[in-house]
Amino acid sequence: MDHESSLLKNFEPSWDINILKSQINPEKMPRHIAIIMDGNGRWAREKRLTRVAGHRAGVKAVRDIVEASVDIRLEVLTLYAFSVQNWERPKREVNTLMRLLVEYLKKELPEMMEQDIRMIAIGDLDRLPSRVRETLAFTIEKTKNNKGMTLNLALNYGGKSEICHAAKQIARKIKEGQIEADQIDEGLFSRHLYTADLPDPDLLIRTSGEMRISNFLLWQLAYAEFWITQTLWPDFNRAEFFQAIIDFQKRERRFGRITGFLGRKR
Ligand code: FPP
Repeated sequence: MDHESSLLKNFEPSWDINILKSQINPEKMPRHIAIIMDGNGRWAREKRLTRVAGHRAGVKAVRDIVEASVDIRLEVLTLYAFSVQNWERPKREVNTLMRLLVEYLKKELPEMMEQDIRMIAIGDLDRLPSRVRETLAFTIEKTKNNKGMTLNLALNYGGKSEICHAAKQIARKIKEGQIEADQIDEGLFSRHLYTADLPDPDLLIRTSGEMRISNFLLWQLAYAEFWITQTLWPDFNRAEFFQAIIDFQKRERRFGRITGFLGRKR
């Protein structure tokens, strides 16, 4: 368990937020933060509420974190909103999640425009229900020229299927003679992922204490720093979010190298 975040559980007054915010070094900002929003169900059970109520409370946390991200001028925020595995939940819960998503997109569009947020989505979007696809396409189109933060929703997303999707596209190009097999390298492969235009996440946050990657951004998280908190997603707030960034900035990222050694000349 991350002791720093557990201390912050009930930490909310606004002056504390400003103190925390002032500890974030704008020069060392992560460019891209990805979040696995976990624990809506457990939050609801603890409060003897329905899972639907848990997801509703989860949407509130989404709003707070998006607002906080804009506030600190984050470049990209990716939220794992619905995985390919989530279809296996009871139909009622899946429908609720889809409804909440549509509600969120419709309600937040004016705010996205106001805050200059560009909304995009990754995943197998064609298999989402038509009302979700339509609202999503509308929001993406409306916000496409915004120049502030990119809010990236992972929907019907799975890391393994994303990698297969990229491999298929590359195989097709080889078959059609557009590229040769020997040209495949990390850069080319990355450009065939859903995240082709985004920097890889520098920081992965996961709520509710699970130590798993859950098929999320398997390729892109290769060198990301992980920050895991026991806090359940609906209780995750900007104070803890800022703390995660402050902790990230204290870490030494070596990308497989040794400190102070910049590499042997070849
Ligand atoms: C995990 O909680 C959360 C999800 C499966 C979905 C996350 C969705 C939202 C926060 C709401 C909609 C999203 C947006 C972007 C508006 P869980 O149900 O797995 O919790 P549990 O593990 O405690 O059961």
